[in-house]
Amino acid sequence: MTQHFIVIGNPISHSKSPQIHHVFATQSGIDIRYQRQYCPDDKASFTAVVEAFFNGGGTGANVTVPFKQMAHAQCLANGSLSEHARVAGAVNTLSIKNETLYGDNTDGQGLVNHMTSLGWPLNEAHVAIIGAGGASRGVVLPLIQAGIASLTIANRTLSKATILVDELSAASVSIKEHGIETCRTTELTGAYNLIINATSIGLTENTLPIADSLSTDYAYDMMYGRALPFLQHFEQRGAQISDGYGMLINQAALSFEHWTEQTVDINKATVALQQAQE
Ligand code: ATR
Repeated sequence: MTQHFIVIGNPISHSKSPQIHHVFATQSGIDIRYQRQYCPDDKASFTAVVEAFFNGGGTGANVTVPFKQMAHAQCLANGSLSEHARVAGAVNTLSIKNETLYGDNTDGQGLVNHMTSLGWPLNEAHVAIIGAGGASRGVVLPLIQAGIASLTIANRTLSKATILVDELSAASVSIKEHGIETCRTTELTGAYNLIINATSIGLTENTLPIADSLSTDYAYDMMYGRALPFLQHFEQRGAQISDGYGMLINQAALSFEHWTEQTVDINKATVALQQAQE
């Protein structure tokens, strides 16, 4: 029997999720139909789309910009949330559990799994994240669970970083006990093992102000599919770098595994996706 999936977003025509999930399904030998679902940007429309999909027998939905917070609110009001979704304040994976809506967030664990597959050591790492929006919020708990030694969140607007840390500390005892430093992006200096760009600056022509004295062994940009000056800066200084394409595949794999209870071979899937693009 065909299982049905959607990704809900606005805009949505660019989404690579259908292609990625169909590769996973082919490899797992299961029959799925995974479609893009456009939705007007308002709460009533989003709620209606989710209800219609699951009432119609859908198995799972991914949620992307700008609906991740709305999906979180819907699960909080009428369902339940995984710990990662609760702490992130955002949901990217919906399913039905105990006959009600269940929201998970696989973005942060997808990032951690990608870095682990690259062989980047997270245990005892000194880590800085630049950016204090939704992308940053979602990766903090998985990074702390991966055993990092210290975390600094740097942001252009310092107050947004301190508010984010207060909210994360209130939501999670392990984050509160671990502790997070904050500073302005221009004041981020010294040596780190890993620096993650979680800002949306890659969507613009602007470049991040990076202090000369800032150095890192590994630099990760959560964006992909475009030239990323942040990565070029650190690559020229000898760091290992990665864009966020692997995070995209890894978060998708976690969603797929959650829905289907199949295990995805990510390396094999990545090769198949590359071949499909050539
Ligand atoms: P997302 O949910 O994708 O994280 P967001 O909540 O709009 O998006 O957050 C965007 C992040 O990128 C913020 O940290 C923002 O900094 P501010 O909090 O100071 O706005 C950061 N950002 C966006 N454009 C930037 C720029 N030109 N320079 C520095 N930081 C930028």
